[in-house]
Amino acid sequence: MTIKTTQLNQLKEEVSKCKGCLLCETRNNIVFSDGCENAPIMFIGEAPGKNEDEQGLPFVGRAGKLLRKYLEEVGYLKEDFYIANTLKCRPPQNRKPTKEEKLACEKFLLKQIEIVNPKIIVLVGATALESFIKTKITITKARGEIFEINKKLFVPVFHPSYLLRFHNEKENSPRYLFRKDLEKILLLARENES
Ligand code: URA
Repeated sequence: MTIKTTQLNQLKEEVSKCKGCLLCETRNNIVFSDGCENAPIMFIGEAPGKNEDEQGLPFVGRAGKLLRKYLEEVGYLKEDFYIANTLKCRPPQNRKPTKEEKLACEKFLLKQIEIVNPKIIVLVGATALESFIKTKITITKARGEIFEINKKLFVPVFHPSYLLRFHNEKENSPRYLFRKDLEKILLLARENES
């Protein structure tokens, strides 16, 4: 086992015992991560939903399946990405995470980023965007932009649950822009390889 795997296992164990906010009382499972821990790209979503809470894995519900479909179509390989969320436990009724919940969970996400050490962090949706980009900017304005903070590249993209409201991919539609952003991110990772 690599040092990275050991560190992530320890962190996951710590998260599974967390009672830092009330979500510990309603969760079925913590949702820690999925994907390759040596990946150059880390996706950060908002919080687990019903399916994620049941399975203990991020992005496995309707929105998650859409995200994964796009990743595959654009050409992402299994070793290209790692997935996590700002919160590790499900907020009831899938409501937005509160400030207190985000604060309680932040240390785990920051540690996770430190261990995985990706080159690019993809901020999936407004909640992840607000957690890292402190200037007031909407996801519509920020998506597809590259923000460099402490030598790491952050790229916001639309949340796939927003994309579920649209069905076509005509030029400049949300789905069209989402695909373009995923292509740009993969290219960026390939350029930064080695
Ligand atoms: N939405 C998210 O932001 N994260 C998940 O894991 C699932 C849905």
